[in-house]
Amino acid sequence: MTIAPPMPPTDARRAFFDARRAFEAVNLSVRIGSLTLANPVMPASGCFGPALGRLIPVAELGAVVTKTVFGTPRGGNAAHRLTELRAGMVNSVGIPSRGAAGYLAAQHPLYLALGVPVIVSVGGHRPGEYAPVVRGLRGAGDAYELNVSCPNLDRHGTDIGSDPDAIGTVVQAVRRETDKPLIVKLPVLVSSIADCAQAAEAAGADAVCVANSIPALPLTADTRSPVLGNVIGGLSGPNIRPVVLRLVWLAARAVDIPVIACGGIETADDALDYFSVGARAVQVGTASFGRPFAMVEIIRALQERCEGAAAADIAELIELWRA
Ligand SMILES: Cc1cc2nc3c(=O)[nH]c(=O)nc-3n(C[C@H](O)[C@H](O)[C@H](O)COP(=O)(O)O)c2cc1C
Repeated sequence: MTIAPPMPPTDARRAFFDARRAFEAVNLSVRIGSLTLANPVMPASGCFGPALGRLIPVAELGAVVTKTVFGTPRGGNAAHRLTELRAGMVNSVGIPSRGAAGYLAAQHPLYLALGVPVIVSVGGHRPGEYAPVVRGLRGAGDAYELNVSCPNLDRHGTDIGSDPDAIGTVVQAVRRETDKPLIVKLPVLVSSIADCAQAAEAAGADAVCVANSIPALPLTADTRSPVLGNVIGGLSGPNIRPVVLRLVWLAARAVDIPVIACGGIETADDALDYFSVGARAVQVGTASFGRPFAMVEIIRALQERCEGAAAADIAELIELWRA
């Protein structure tokens, strides 16, 4: 048997292998507790459903985050539930949920089929309601994001997330149910984001997500009446980015666990703003409604930015800018 001599390197082959080496050299992975994500980009809860898997290459995402799951079924808020603003939207969807059992039967298999880690968002009206939801999920999910910050739940969600003691109570109770990574999703309206993030860390959380949408009241132009059936809703999109950027900066200085930034991210530059103030991962919400491909574009652009600067990872890219 004769062995074919190695192919002479052509320019095209050399370019191919150079590109592959560069690709392999960039490490976008991020650890959230015991979970390693291939890259730091994922959807924000409530802004992504498994059906999006038919539109975008979901396997390229770092993870998927589910719509918030409550212990028992609940409906959402009265219509109207959404209104668009010049630079974002206000929603008062109100988190309709099939409950933990309904989620397990109908939705979890669809999320699992996407082939990336599944972070299950968990909700409750009172601090004592979170641990039973996680128990009811019976080990489903690779990590849990504790939504203690929804502005659409008669204010109770945001009340928990702005009270460091209540955050501690929720995290400790959930920690007794699971060893899986716990992310605490914090609200914008807090007197000290540092205190809230530290309470989550001290109680055993593996990351904090900063932040949820901001309580807001949109009015109609003609009669000055509330647009939303629930009167108030949550403001999201690019207009909240500078507000959340400040919170991420404060939270990242206060804790050692990763801060996941969420607020108005539309492009890789927006994500890099957050990374440069200390975020270690990002979530994309409102942008996906208009441009479902936004998350994938951001991941590819982060990869290209690192390659272009010969940086091994995002932290090194930022160091190079500042050098
Ligand atoms: C229509 C809609 C539904 C949402 N549902 C949830 C939810 O179920 N759970 C949750 O934690 N956050 C929910 N959020 C908040 C987002 O996850 C995110 O925190 C917020 O929109 C800010 O990010 P963005 O500016 O990229 O949209 C929802 C937001 C929108 C716009």
